[in-house]
Amino acid sequence: MPDSWNIKLSSAGGVGVSVILVEGGVPLMGKVRIKGAKNAVLPIMAASLLSAEKVVLEEVPDLEDVRTMSRLLRHLGVEVFYDCSSERLVLQARRIMTCTAPYGPVRRMRASILIIGPLLARMGRARISLPGGCAIGSRPIDLHLKGLAAMGASFTMKNGYIEASAPKLRGANICLDYPSVGATENLLMAAALAEGPTTIENAAAEPDVVDLAAFIDMLGAKVRGAGTPRISVHPVASPGGGKHRVIPDRIEAGTLMVAAAITGGDVLLENVISRHLTAVTAKLRECGVHVDESPDSLRVVARGRSRAVELKTMPYPGFPTDLQPQFMALLSLARGTSVIAETVFERRYLHVPSLQRMGARIHLEGRSAIITGLPALQGATVHAPDLRGGAALLLAALAARGVSEIHGVRHIRRGYSRLTSRLRALGGRIYMG
Ligand code: UD1
Repeated sequence: MPDSWNIKLSSAGGVGVSVILVEGGVPLMGKVRIKGAKNAVLPIMAASLLSAEKVVLEEVPDLEDVRTMSRLLRHLGVEVFYDCSSERLVLQARRIMTCTAPYGPVRRMRASILIIGPLLARMGRARISLPGGCAIGSRPIDLHLKGLAAMGASFTMKNGYIEASAPKLRGANICLDYPSVGATENLLMAAALAEGPTTIENAAAEPDVVDLAAFIDMLGAKVRGAGTPRISVHPVASPGGGKHRVIPDRIEAGTLMVAAAITGGDVLLENVISRHLTAVTAKLRECGVHVDESPDSLRVVARGRSRAVELKTMPYPGFPTDLQPQFMALLSLARGTSVIAETVFERRYLHVPSLQRMGARIHLEGRSAIITGLPALQGATVHAPDLRGGAALLLAALAARGVSEIHGVRHIRRGYSRLTSRLRALGGRIYMG
């Protein structure tokens, strides 16, 4: 099938543009609807490999990472159809043609590693190039492999590929050394078709894990305890299909909350699950930003400069590492000195040099950043180093004096759908280069 059969390219939102110009200083005002969660949809797409039946996903954002996962699944033999206008994705893994995930997609997107669990469970083998994705730390996959090994899988490394095999996975009691999101998801998927029940202790509790668990439940396996540190899975012999609506993206919501705060704006976010954003809302309030909350909407109103805060990234329900760069942009303009401790990824400060180019005063010491807030940042030419770092630069540019030129916009597009046009609709002065 040609690419255009199922992955239509859309011109809205500047697809194909790699530089954007931003004129800062306009408070963002208005309403924005939050899209489906990237980090929920990617594992759910991988989980479609578990069943030969058709699955329909709703609220699937038009993202570069979704396209990459679609291409990877299609390479494996899955039928994939995506309709941009309805944001519906239809997947059917009637037959799996190959168990090899090649270098290309895996290099572009680390979440490709999530096909190991379901492929092993359904086919008894998987071969995957060593993963890539955002360069925000060494990001090993030892916890994925250790958990799968406890279920009877064995691994060899050959020519840059991990080769996994397990004639039949067995259910097991697994205790993760760290509540890794990806490892929890891979093990959940593997457990869905294993022989006998599995429990995962010290499991990740992220809403994305809960959404994947709901999807696997829909396929017929019984998953209990998702969202707590102890998840149990009773497998299903013949998984079915069905329709699933993806949860709203709490990281996109958090990014837009900071966009409102950093520009001194007034923005209503619709289609959110506010309780997924408790840590973020609390931190913004500590910064002096006003947040009005209902279960499915959030209104963020900011007047004047934020206050400095201390912030520590943690697994959910703690403050998300995926919003650390955006908050750093906000704190660069706060009154006083803030301290950020990044405990999840050791190198997640690649956006710092670019913020410094805009005038920010940030001092790095190991895993901590000390930020002395200033009354203003200046527009500059900067380069998005990774997905969330790129979003942080865009937010800083919206607040800075003068014009910024942001390069490397492809990183931002991996995880935000039409972000620039949606910010423009809120009054942001963003032009395509
Ligand atoms: C997922 C998210 C990512 C988010 C991260 C933490 C997706 C597609 N991506 O990434 O956006 O930033 O959760 O919330 O959902 N680790 C190991 N060994 C392993 C696995 C992880 O040491 O086998 C370490 C990592 O290097 C990192 C930490 O554990 O320091 C957290 O990683 P993990 O929770 O696995 O993140 P991802 O699933 O990769």
